[in-house]
Amino acid sequence: MSTIAYLKSLLKDKNVASVTPSSSFTIKKTTRNIDFSKDVTIIEYGPGTGVFAEFLLKHISPGSRLIMIEMNVDFVHQLKHLKDDRVSVHHASAEQVEAIALEHGLQKVDYILSGIPFSFLDEKVKNRILAATVRLLHPEGIFLAYQTSSHLKESLQSHFSHVETCYEIRNIPPMCIYEARM
Ligand SMILES: C[S@@+](CC[C@H](N)C(=O)[O-])C[C@H]1O[C@@H](n2cnc3c(N)ncnc32)[C@H](O)[C@@H]1O
Repeated sequence: MSTIAYLKSLLKDKNVASVTPSSSFTIKKTTRNIDFSKDVTIIEYGPGTGVFAEFLLKHISPGSRLIMIEMNVDFVHQLKHLKDDRVSVHHASAEQVEAIALEHGLQKVDYILSGIPFSFLDEKVKNRILAATVRLLHPEGIFLAYQTSSHLKESLQSHFSHVETCYEIRNIPPMCIYEARM
């Protein structure tokens, strides 16, 4: 179902940037340093059909929150079927993250997770999203991103003090996973 949804969406919208959702291996590796023992606030850019959300909702506490920002309207409709009080879905670009956080009364969040294809973005847009991400994260917060190559490392290093990468080959295509901290 999800692969078909992706292929249909990709034909209409190049920003979908994938033929299939992330694998469970990618999801587990990307989220491995989220502290599920506490109440956490997570913002996700580009949730697609919600494969990360399905995993996160099984692990986050009842007092945690997951705010998703998705640009593709078909995916937004699909995400609206996630019936969970901890979830909010916004049809918007990640560029609007600070305004969306304010709507929720949030000055800072614990984790920002991202699958958006940064290599497709204009340099200015990419830097605006990364700068807003830094402003919104708690000092000990983490930006978790996955991309099909290591192209994002340099940009992340210009916004964050510590950037680590690792790979997950059990994904179509293989993924480079980034962890960036202040
Ligand atoms: C590679 S897919 C990843 C989807 C999903 N997170 C997964 O792991 O299977 C990229 C997603 O980012 C969304 N997207 C692209 N640019 C975006 C932006 N500027 N703001 C929010 N979502 C965006 C696309 O519509 C798509 O759902």
